[in-house]
Amino acid sequence: MSVRTIGVVMNGVTGRMGYRQHLVRSVLAINEQGGVTLSDGDRVKLRPVLVGRNADKLADIATKHGISDFTTDLDAALASDDNLIYFDAQVTSARVKAVLKAIEAGKHIYAEKPTAESTQEAIALAEAATAKGVKNGVVQDKLFLPGLLKLKRLIDGGFFGRILSVRGEFGYWVFEGDWQEAQRPSWNYRAEDGGGIVLDMFPHWHYVMENLFGRIQSVYAQAVTHVPARVDEQGNTYQATADDAAYGIFELEGGIVAQINSSWTVRVNRDELVEFQVDGTHGSAVAGLRNCRVQHRSATPKPVWNPDLPATARFRDGWQEVPDNAEFDNGFKIQWEAFVRHVVEDAPFPNDFASGARGVQLAELGLRSNAEGRRIEVPQL
Ligand SMILES: NC(=O)c1ccc[n+]([C@@H]2O[C@H](COP(=O)([O-])OP(=O)(O)OC[C@H]3O[C@@H](n4cnc5c(N)ncnc54)[C@H](O)[C@@H]3O)[C@@H](O)[C@H]2O)c1
Repeated sequence: MSVRTIGVVMNGVTGRMGYRQHLVRSVLAINEQGGVTLSDGDRVKLRPVLVGRNADKLADIATKHGISDFTTDLDAALASDDNLIYFDAQVTSARVKAVLKAIEAGKHIYAEKPTAESTQEAIALAEAATAKGVKNGVVQDKLFLPGLLKLKRLIDGGFFGRILSVRGEFGYWVFEGDWQEAQRPSWNYRAEDGGGIVLDMFPHWHYVMENLFGRIQSVYAQAVTHVPARVDEQGNTYQATADDAAYGIFELEGGIVAQINSSWTVRVNRDELVEFQVDGTHGSAVAGLRNCRVQHRSATPKPVWNPDLPATARFRDGWQEVPDNAEFDNGFKIQWEAFVRHVVEDAPFPNDFASGARGVQLAELGLRSNAEGRRIEVPQL
């Protein structure tokens, strides 16, 4: 067994996602476990090269984790032939420029979603990567959540019969920043900086629906800015110009109707921060981040509507927990390992820039649906 090391340029590691999920929980965790194991038993370790705008912040992270390479000069990091992969977790609005540069430098690209702010740019990225012959991938972490893996298992096992509908509920209260600090960055609430919950969440819902239930044929969305002013990281009040809630209806192939609410202005009365209820002719399931519970047709109660009587049935007791039956690793790390195998030994990696572009397209059409107040067909990319 041999171990080789490849350089990975990581841009945006001072951010929430770049630092926690991608550097610490994926790249460093992969090295701690001895690398990514290839099909022949060989291993690949990753040498992160941290890139960002602030040398002090990069130095702090590098020191804390014993990382030797960091720079504010992206061009220099891309110039080294030892660096095979470019990873981007910058703010969305900064992504296209940096990714195009990395493609031009011949790096294989892995990027956070959304890959761009517009469908046109997202397609241009996919085309540029293909033309240059570099591998490309987009983060689609929700597919690897234990709850959704259990849901996929139910679908593959034929549990539902014919799937009729999906109801997704995502969100939590994001503090305005006045009397309690906001728990998300302020750019998320400014359209001019790439913010907005449609652009943030519809790319996720796109790959979840496409992978679990089927192609999306149309979208109707109502996007709203419920909280018009917020307070930023410096304590300054700013106008929230981006949508902070979106109420979407999607028609999927096979006649499935999916309804998904996404909101940073909702208080959680659920078991998890995201939950999907799937109803089928033979059974129903409610899947969250970790858990999934089911009710088979044979265990379905027969409620009769009578508002004059108090409800006696405890409806939630009639559901059964789906067992883990497997070990679930961190989804971000699993996807990193798959991308490294894709780069090094050409293993399959379906979550490519073309799929990322379809996610951006759904966000763009969702916003157009909102602006025009009508249902929009989704053309196939
Ligand atoms: N996969 C997921 O579940 C998930 C979750 C949240 C965010 N994201 C995506 O990850 C990306 C980063 O989001 P985040 O929440 O980590 O953001 P963040 O604000 O915490 O981090 C942004 C990073 O980009 C850098 N940056 C580069 N140019 C910048 C500029 N002009 N202005 C401000 N910052 C700049 C910052 O220094 C920082 O390192 C976004 O594209 C977002 O859509 C993905």
